[in-house]
Amino acid sequence: MKYEELVKIASEEKHKAYAPYSGFKVGAAVVTGTGNVYTGVNIENASYGATNCAERTAVFKAVSNGERKIDLVAISSESDDYIFPCGICRQVLAEFGHKDTKIICSKNNGDFIVFKLEDLLPHAFYLK
Ligand code: THU
Repeated sequence: MKYEELVKIASEEKHKAYAPYSGFKVGAAVVTGTGNVYTGVNIENASYGATNCAERTAVFKAVSNGERKIDLVAISSESDDYIFPCGICRQVLAEFGHKDTKIICSKNNGDFIVFKLEDLLPHAFYLK
């Protein structure tokens, strides 16, 4: 899948976000090792700590469908700046990612930059 294509999917997804508290809508799309695409949005909660980020929603949808490997992730928000995954999402991505997993961080206008997961979370925690 082309990076542009996955950014577009994440971008279109963000309108489904449930973000009544922050007003900050995020969409994510992941490509799994089997080539499937799963999307996710942030889902906020009145008890703020119960909020789930878009990236984790997408990963959890993939894993609960039997997927175990994430090859590529795109993230999109309505911001004019690039959006980067939060620390918790980086750790969740590390669980199902690998040394070639890439994260596409985009701006609302579609511009994007691509990072290796291991550059965004060096020395991730593993129980292996
Ligand atoms: N958020 C995401 O969904 N992904 C990120 O990468 C950063 C933050 C969400 C969580 C919360 O609903 C809102 O953005 C503001 O923090």
